[in-house]
Amino acid sequence: MRTPFLAANWKMNKTVGETRDFLAQFIPQVRDVSGVDIVIAPPFTSLATAAAEIKGTNIMLAAQNVFHEEKGAFTGEISPRMLVDIGCRYSIIGHSERRQYFHETDEMVNKKIMIAKQTGLGVILCIGESLEEREAEKTFDVLSRQLEIGLNGIEYQNIVIAYEPIWAIGTGKTAAPEQAQEAHAFIRERLRIYYGNNAEKFAIIYGGSVTPENVDSLMACRDVDGALVGGASLKAESFSRIVKFRKVQ
Ligand code: 13P
Repeated sequence: MRTPFLAANWKMNKTVGETRDFLAQFIPQVRDVSGVDIVIAPPFTSLATAAAEIKGTNIMLAAQNVFHEEKGAFTGEISPRMLVDIGCRYSIIGHSERRQYFHETDEMVNKKIMIAKQTGLGVILCIGESLEEREAEKTFDVLSRQLEIGLNGIEYQNIVIAYEPIWAIGTGKTAAPEQAQEAHAFIRERLRIYYGNNAEKFAIIYGGSVTPENVDSLMACRDVDGALVGGASLKAESFSRIVKFRKVQ
């Protein structure tokens, strides 16, 4: 059985004070939740505060990005070693916003995953097609390419795959549960090619306009093992309801 994995991607939101306020509400709301991996990914500037606040709780910390070198003359970048040192268990890698605005390629994503794993940092690898690609029936080609290059030479441990169709991010247009299931099943098929039976161990999570209203039906899908939540993770009330999803049939 795979452990459900519910992660908050705050993107470029929340100051240190706002992070503290969120956690003061959120920690008691999820204190009794067990059997679920709960992860928050605040901006870099809030990581130290969040690490201190969640100590001894059932919440894990993630970064939103990481650089693909250990150290050196890379002004403005943050290495996996620094993230592990500050208490991060995971980093999101290859989010579509980074691919789109910062021109991250599948090859860069692959390098980042490689060094993150060498450093003992878990990875939340984001993949997903644009609306244009979906309409041109290229969804599966895009997912195959992103997985093939992104995971080239990478062992299976400590990786979560986030399927985030770009057309569903921040748009309020969630993928229908059947669309999510179809993509997740396809992703698992591809993982089977690289990892054999270990493909069953991957959490494949869905991202794109997940809310307290739609999380239950998404989580009911066979291959949907969790969610990566943007907008609806910014309020403690709403993210805690998502973490406490109910399994509907
Ligand atoms: P929204 O939940 O705001 O659509 O964002 C999804 C996302 O990009 C999470 O990484």
